[in-house]
Amino acid sequence: MKTALIGLGRTGKNVAEYLIKQDTLAMVLCRQSSPNANKDIGEILGSNLTGITVETIDHLERKLFHKQPDVLIDFSGHTFLKENIHTLAKCGVNVVTAVTDYEPAEIERLRIFAEKGNIGIVMAPNITYGVNVMMLMAEIAAELMGDYDFEVFEEHHKHKKDRPSGTAKKIVNKIRTGLLEEKEIPEHVVRAGGIVGKHKVLICGEFDKIEISHESFSRVAFAEGAYKAAKFINGKTGFYEMSDIFEYERQQRRQIVIQHQPTEFEKEDPA
Ligand SMILES: NC(=O)c1ccc[n+]([C@@H]2O[C@H](COP(=O)([O-])OP(=O)(O)OC[C@H]3O[C@@H](n4cnc5c(N)ncnc54)[C@H](OP(=O)(O)O)[C@@H]3O)[C@@H](O)[C@H]2O)c1
Repeated sequence: MKTALIGLGRTGKNVAEYLIKQDTLAMVLCRQSSPNANKDIGEILGSNLTGITVETIDHLERKLFHKQPDVLIDFSGHTFLKENIHTLAKCGVNVVTAVTDYEPAEIERLRIFAEKGNIGIVMAPNITYGVNVMMLMAEIAAELMGDYDFEVFEEHHKHKKDRPSGTAKKIVNKIRTGLLEEKEIPEHVVRAGGIVGKHKVLICGEFDKIEISHESFSRVAFAEGAYKAAKFINGKTGFYEMSDIFEYERQQRRQIVIQHQPTEFEKEDPA
């Protein structure tokens, strides 16, 4: 699989490093005004030269046809995919977008386009494995503890524009899915310093409480999730979220467990 990357900001640089280590990065894109344009990605990362020059997004179609990446990983801003989705589809490039500031109408447009079979998209405002497991736990807690109060807390660095985070909104949706009746779920937001990302669900009753929390120590966690999503969407069409990928992996693991169940014959004759 050949990957392309757009968005060399705080997170994108870590993702670039990770993709180089996986030997999958074939192309890096940036805005026309970016100071990174026409530099070797190794130079930007302060490492060895790689031979991969950061290219601007003008004449995108020609550049994609030339490099032929299978999947583009997007850590830029919401306008990139909106403006270039048709070009990516035309060039047969699927997309993992980790961008979090899409308007609901934009997401709907992307969903309809992908569901028509034009392209494969993973929409991943919550890209780490851990945070997805945490959401599952919150949903289960909501199913079992509907009479408790649920509150969601999130903390991120002071440059993060959206508040609450896409992940916090998703956690609230998961809790609502688990609850039988409508109830208020307060959300608390901190934007300070260099916090990479922290989410917590407080489940509080009259006599006890549960706290489920997830914290990313390093942006490499985002890179790992993006790579996992890229491997999943490679060669597929349709619109997916990270939860679809984790559900798919869960099913695969269950299949393996079933296949490894000992037969009656094996049970009788352990040798
Ligand atoms: N899903 C997750 O779990 C997760 C995790 C981390 C981050 N994110 C999201 O990923 C995005 C980037 O985060 P960040 O913290 O790395 O932000 P950042 O430091 O501001 O970096 C954004 C980068 O994207 C480039 N960019 C912005 N708009 C663009 C466009 N329209 N076309 C091409 N390039 C564009 C910028 O280019 P210039 O250098 O030219 O300014 C910049 O290098 C945000 O939406 C953030 O919320 C998601």
